[in-house]
Amino acid sequence: MTDKYAVIGNPIHHSKSPLIHAEFARQTGEDIEYSAIEVPLDGLQNSLQQLRDVLKLKGINVTVPFKEQVWKITQQKSARAELAGAVNTVVFNNDGSLFGDNTDGIGLCRDLVINHQVELAGKRILLLGAGGASRGVIAPLLEYQPLGIFIANRTASKSSHLAELFAHLGNVHGGGFHDIAGEFDVVINATAASLQGEVPPLPDKVLASGACCYDMMYSDTDTAFIQWAKAQKAEKTIDGLGMLVEQAAEAFYLWRGVRPQTASVISLLHNKT
Ligand code: ATR
Repeated sequence: MTDKYAVIGNPIHHSKSPLIHAEFARQTGEDIEYSAIEVPLDGLQNSLQQLRDVLKLKGINVTVPFKEQVWKITQQKSARAELAGAVNTVVFNNDGSLFGDNTDGIGLCRDLVINHQVELAGKRILLLGAGGASRGVIAPLLEYQPLGIFIANRTASKSSHLAELFAHLGNVHGGGFHDIAGEFDVVINATAASLQGEVPPLPDKVLASGACCYDMMYSDTDTAFIQWAKAQKAEKTIDGLGMLVEQAAEAFYLWRGVRPQTASVISLLHNKT
């Protein structure tokens, strides 16, 4: 019997996840169906029950605005999901319990390190933003042993708080944009500023020579942050499409135990945007 999966969110109609997972299924021969389901903003617990008991789904991906709520609901979680404070992948266990994971951070790191050959070990990382997207990637980035991570945010108290949360795992500091000092090798935009066509207020000369700029957002044209990075002569500029595919591949692996190839799916999506 075909196993069913879905991505839930609100809104969800623009999601690329059904296309990505259909490609993974075609490529690996796994017999799955994957759809996008908009669930109401209220009553998430009830929606999850219906997905499991009525639609008989085996697992779900979770996107905006439910990742933190699902984190609260799931009793069993991976270590990386515990640290992220958010769940983007759920396994519906046969005994009715839920297992929550978060594959966003590993998705970003794989895109940087494997797909784009960006070195993280010993590097200075500037992470912009202190919301859920930022929190989810800090621990996975620290696993690559960077020299340090500075988290800069419009609301400085939030980035200082995040830095304190992760200080036991590595050299992490936080502050406002005006606290950014020195040059960085890797600058990652995890703010929602690109959605509004804005760039966080960064000082001049923030990019070290050979720097890479990564926007966790993507769009069919350069985001405001990518435009800024190109104007600053960043050596590499990368948008978040690869991260999207890599986090999906890790979720697919969790559900099916088979690791799909991502390169062809990333180029397929690039050609479609
Ligand atoms: P997400 O789950 O995508 O991280 P979020 O938790 O709402 O969403 O966080 C959004 C992040 O983008 C925050 O860091 C926010 O800054 P504040 O904490 O000061 O609100 C940041 N952000 C949103 N719009 C921004 C803008 N125009 N310029 C700079 N930062 C912005």
